[in-house]
Amino acid sequence: MLRLVIAIAALACVHSAPASEILSAQLDGRIVNGSTTTISSFPWQVSLQSSGALFCGGSVYSEYIIVTAAHCVEDEPLESFKVRAGSTYWNSGGILSKVAAYKMHELYGTNGMAYDIAVVRLATPLKFSSTIKPIALATTAPVDGVEAVVSGWGTLRSGSATLPTQLRYVNFSVVSMANCSSDAYNYTNEDIVETMICGYTVGKDACQGDSGGPMVAGGVLAGVVSWGIGCGFPNYPGVYADVAALRTWVEQTASSI
Ligand code: ARG
Repeated sequence: MLRLVIAIAALACVHSAPASEILSAQLDGRIVNGSTTTISSFPWQVSLQSSGALFCGGSVYSEYIIVTAAHCVEDEPLESFKVRAGSTYWNSGGILSKVAAYKMHELYGTNGMAYDIAVVRLATPLKFSSTIKPIALATTAPVDGVEAVVSGWGTLRSGSATLPTQLRYVNFSVVSMANCSSDAYNYTNEDIVETMICGYTVGKDACQGDSGGPMVAGGVLAGVVSWGIGCGFPNYPGVYADVAALRTWVEQTASSI
């Protein structure tokens, strides 16, 4: 049963509303408990869109490169794939760029949700400003208890079908991979595998639509929103791709794509 729920949770992103409805029927929803903000406070945040609909978040790595989750871009047709940068709102303002190419981590799909990271190359370079800025990648994973922040335009609670248009953020504590798979939480060490890092503060979490977006700790990109069972559920941390563990891949892929 738990495995089924995990499979649904991993897929329960904005591309698959019916799956999130099943999930919300199984588990009680909770508010993600964030606050609204503006892009100047998170100038590395971008939204990924397909034919005018938001499907994920991402982070500015360089003028041409966005870092996001592999599950976000999987099977995404290039023709309709766009990235909006420099706006507090996912559906207006800032600059909307076409995508020239993207690449998922080669090992994504080999072990559950491990290696859930991808880079996206824009067709035209971003111009950095107070609302568009790159963020450095973490070189070491933040340790248990470090304060982190996640931002995005994802739903306010598990199972919700409505995306807010204004950017939101929430603070929580980092949970190491070892702790996340321990008896302290409801995941097992089959769920929490290499290249993952978690975040948990009761009721404070990312949710559907936030995937691919930034988890920042100590001023650097420490995680990429990946998956979770529901959102903000007791004893189910949010799970992120561990950027420090995947940094070399991002650097090399960014310079070769
Ligand atoms: N897979 C979801 C997405 O594509 C993100 C889920 C994050 N869930 C969580 N509880 N932190 O938007």
